[in-house]
Amino acid sequence: MLIGERITLGPVKREYIDPYLKWFNDPEIIQYLSMFRPMTRMMEEDWIENLKNRDDTIAFAILITNENVGEKLIGNCGLHAIDWKNRVAEVGITIGEKEYQGKGYGTEAMELLVDYGFKSVNLNRIQLRVYQFNSRAINSYNKIGFVEEGRMRKAIFINGEYHDIIFMSILKEEWLKEK
Ligand SMILES: CC(C)(COP(=O)(O)OP(=O)(O)OC[C@H]1O[C@@H](n2cnc3c(N)ncnc32)[C@H](O)[C@@H]1OP(=O)(O)O)[C@@H](O)C(=O)NCCC(=O)NCCS
Repeated sequence: MLIGERITLGPVKREYIDPYLKWFNDPEIIQYLSMFRPMTRMMEEDWIENLKNRDDTIAFAILITNENVGEKLIGNCGLHAIDWKNRVAEVGITIGEKEYQGKGYGTEAMELLVDYGFKSVNLNRIQLRVYQFNSRAINSYNKIGFVEEGRMRKAIFINGEYHDIIFMSILKEEWLKEK
């Protein structure tokens, strides 16, 4: 468990499959992600089942924990494509419960994840990809200290248009200096 001020990052559990199916079949959510096929229960079950065998992935559930809600699942995040030799990983995040978006939870979760990546997993570089039209995510990543490194022009086709994919990263030395 990684414990922040308002949220906790905890293990992914099988009982989360129903909310995952809701989020990852919602066009409003998946327009920002690389997925576009319908997500089936079997695909979710396989993903959760395979997590234990994957040493290139560390996935977390994003939970709000307080006396009013108890423990409320609002999203997930993780380190992916972990390259243990070069100490590089890619981060991904979704606040799937839409009423919890835009309230600072995503930024707080990403800060916890980045801190864990540098201080516990001993990564040296954390990178991500974000679509040009995802201003909320870009604002959040900028605030954390990610910087744009470049973009692939018109590399993604979504909602009838082509968009740039922006590459961002943060280095361990930058994170430690900022903190
Ligand atoms: C991207 C995401 C993780 C951000 O988390 P969040 O909790 O919604 O965002 P935050 O409340 O932490 O806000 C981040 C920043 O964006 C700003 N912001 C909030 N809503 C915004 C909006 N609709 N448009 C632009 N900026 C917005 C916030 O003001 C904040 O910046 P500030 O603190 O300087 O004001 C979340 O919105 C999400 O999961 N979106 C859907 C999936 C997705 O885009 N995943 C990322 C793919 S790269």
